[in-house]
Amino acid sequence: MRTQVAIIGAGPSGLLLSQILHNAGIDSVILERKSLDYVLGRIRAGVLEQGLVDMLDAAGVGARMHREGLVHDGTELCFNGTRHRIDFKELTGKTVMVYGQTEVTRDLVDARRAADAKLVYEAEDVELHDFDGDSPWVTYRKDGVEHRIDCDFIAGCDGYHGVSRASAPQSVLKTFERVYPFGWLGILSETPPVSEELIYARHERGFALCSMRSHVLSRYYVQVPLDDKVEAWSDERFWDELRRRIDQKAADTIVMGPSIEKTIAPLRSFVAEPMKFGRMFLVGDAAHIVPPTGAKGLNLAASDVHYLSEALIAHYGSGEGELIERYSENALRRIWKAERFSWWMTNLMHTFPDASGFDGRMQVAELDYVTSSKTGAAALAENYVGLPY
Ligand code: FAD
Ligand code: PHB
Repeated sequence: MRTQVAIIGAGPSGLLLSQILHNAGIDSVILERKSLDYVLGRIRAGVLEQGLVDMLDAAGVGARMHREGLVHDGTELCFNGTRHRIDFKELTGKTVMVYGQTEVTRDLVDARRAADAKLVYEAEDVELHDFDGDSPWVTYRKDGVEHRIDCDFIAGCDGYHGVSRASAPQSVLKTFERVYPFGWLGILSETPPVSEELIYARHERGFALCSMRSHVLSRYYVQVPLDDKVEAWSDERFWDELRRRIDQKAADTIVMGPSIEKTIAPLRSFVAEPMKFGRMFLVGDAAHIVPPTGAKGLNLAASDVHYLSEALIAHYGSGEGELIERYSENALRRIWKAERFSWWMTNLMHTFPDASGFDGRMQVAELDYVTSSKTGAAALAENYVGLPY
């Protein structure tokens, strides 16, 4: 088989890249290790920046998002038992869209399938070859049969545990990492959300977040020690802990119900540089991870797709190679700013095992500043709604 761009991974970044390239007349093949059901079963991000909303619209896959998604004009920060609102719209003129990553993925798969895309699920042992030359190729096995795809470029959209970053020359690859000493225990519950907007809560017992997927589906998180096991957290224990960490009104009015999903995710900051190795590019989680406190993971994957699709469209259109050469530099400038914001939000809101009383007072003073100064609030809002591409 031959294609112009071989895409590894059918998460949001691989699917969105493929759809945008298709709309520009550029052919691609997507190889995904898991099944479609498995990919759609993963509960992940929920907050989309305007930039991603615009990209989904431009790619022709935004209709259901506008029907079913919830536009949020602001968010609430809770500390010392009181909630304070940050008004994104007033401070930045922008809003965010609450619409699950699962739904974004489903919409993209539907659009790709409607266009007869070459989308191979359960592709085993994907290997990347000769991307340092002019004629890269990819091999994989499907149902016991070996396949080879020749291509012009390879896009590594295969997440943190993928094969693409692992295939990059290790002498060139630099990585930067911070692992946090806690995780997030998250549940999904078929109950109405406690509030119309998200609540980020700082509490001595640990961070908590009240989020949602719709008016009838809530997503809640509490900070837990890294070695905690999901089995130790009954629904009752979860609700009890969450209610201790949020304000009294929210604790009194929250609607509790059985969890339909419960997982613990570790928190990590990670960046790999560069993101281009000859004719192979790293995109999304394959190149970087943020702790979820800033709601940036999915949105950063989208901005990478923006820079790469623009570069590939210029290459195939006018033959101009400048944007391809600058992909890594352009993408990384935005990535590092989102890494900074996610790290800052994480430090601001979580209880660290070695924190002193002084550290705790500093968090509260900073939260007080951010929620009482227009300048402080604007800095948070500007980053949360998404920095420009
Ligand atoms: P992925 O979604 O990881 O997609 C990569 C795809 O590549 C996967 O489908 C994988 O199966 C496939 N793949 C991997 N290896 C291979 C291979 N060798 N061959 C072929 N295919 C392969 N972000 C937020 O903003 N908010 C959140 O609440 C949030 N929660 C998260 C919870 C978890 C448990 C995780 C892991 C991430 C979470 N994120 C969250 C981050 C967000 O989901 C990611 O940033 C986003 O999924 C990145 O998209 P991606 O397409 O780059 O990578
Ligand atoms: C979510 O709804 O899953 C969510 C929302 C905001 C975050 C992280 C996760 O910062």
